[in-house]
Amino acid sequence: MKKSFGFGIVGCGAISKAHIESIKLIPEARLVGVVDKFVEKAKAVGEGEGCDYYSDYNDLLKRPDLDIVCVCTPSGLHAEPTIASAKAGKHVIVEKPLEITLEKIDSMIKACEENNVKLATIFPNRFKKATNYLWKKVQDGRFGKLIMGDAYIKWYRTPEYYSTASWRGTWTMDGGGALMNQSIHTIDLLQWMMGKVSSVVAYTDALLHDIETEDTAVAIVRFENGALGVIEGATSLYPGFPNRLEIHGSKGAAILENEKFTTWNFIDSDEQEENEIKRLSEAANKSTSFSDPMAFNFDPHRRQIEDMIAAIKEDRAPFIDGYEGRKAVEIIASIYRSSKEGRPVDL
Ligand SMILES: NC(=O)c1ccc[n+]([C@@H]2O[C@H](COP(=O)([O-])OP(=O)(O)OC[C@H]3O[C@@H](n4cnc5c(N)ncnc54)[C@H](O)[C@@H]3O)[C@@H](O)[C@H]2O)c1
Repeated sequence: MKKSFGFGIVGCGAISKAHIESIKLIPEARLVGVVDKFVEKAKAVGEGEGCDYYSDYNDLLKRPDLDIVCVCTPSGLHAEPTIASAKAGKHVIVEKPLEITLEKIDSMIKACEENNVKLATIFPNRFKKATNYLWKKVQDGRFGKLIMGDAYIKWYRTPEYYSTASWRGTWTMDGGGALMNQSIHTIDLLQWMMGKVSSVVAYTDALLHDIETEDTAVAIVRFENGALGVIEGATSLYPGFPNRLEIHGSKGAAILENEKFTTWNFIDSDEQEENEIKRLSEAANKSTSFSDPMAFNFDPHRRQIEDMIAAIKEDRAPFIDGYEGRKAVEIIASIYRSSKEGRPVDL
């Protein structure tokens, strides 16, 4: 049995810190190299972390001591390093969104399957205790018949957020705006809880920022199980608000704001369950990522990296594999199509 796993990072920007700090906390993980197309960025991180650095990921991929690659490049540049890593026999953890088109995602899944390596998509919210608890309750049928599921992601980003990284808010590199970059986390949770989305009808627009993609979006969704719901996603709403996930069923309702339950109300109340909800809400991390892109806790990233190590050891799929990562992108792509074509779109 392998005792330690060599990690490499491709893309030394803002989110790479979450991966590096997580790797440092995992006893069986070690960082062997980092890559950035701007070698001075890679050098600063490599020297700081005491590992090798490169400007071309193909050089990193030659290393026999490299097992797992974390892809932290701009969203529209996830496929190339992922496919190259798969061909080099390395497992891959890819930041969200897995990629910005379903065609590219399918080619990544195929390359990983053909080369017998594992592919994981980062969706840290699924690794948070409150969301996990809610998911299990939905699976157990606690809500009865699911009637409505909503995701409200009324966030704010400054104009500098877009102007300091030229790929953000572009179709070719960000693949969209508020939905594809920010709201995707909660859209993934919504579909994870409520099940497959079967159709959407939507409006999207850039109402505040000078970007080519949307900063404001509203969609009505129908789920395959017949339930209805709403997705509201934005980076245009000052000062930014905690994201809210609402699950309504025939037996009761839950409202989760970030990691805190603000409503847990069922026809047949259960004291033990209510105590657990209170405990989870009190322990919740007070994230302000609705207004600050880097204000989040790295712990769920660590859990997700640990899940990849466990998946390799147990020879199973990672908890959020390529097929799971694909689902939220399919919903968002359908919302964009609905808004562009002015009609409902079936998935
Ligand atoms: N999970 C989360 O909560 C979270 C948060 C922020 C960003 N992200 C995702 O992480 C990804 C990166 O976002 P960011 O904010 O860190 O971006 P960033 O612009 O800060 O960093 C991207 C880095 O990739 C480098 N790069 C570009 N092309 C490259 C190439 N071919 N080879 C090597 N390096 C290359 C850039 O020079 C830059 O340093 C995006 O997909 C984003 O959606 C996820």
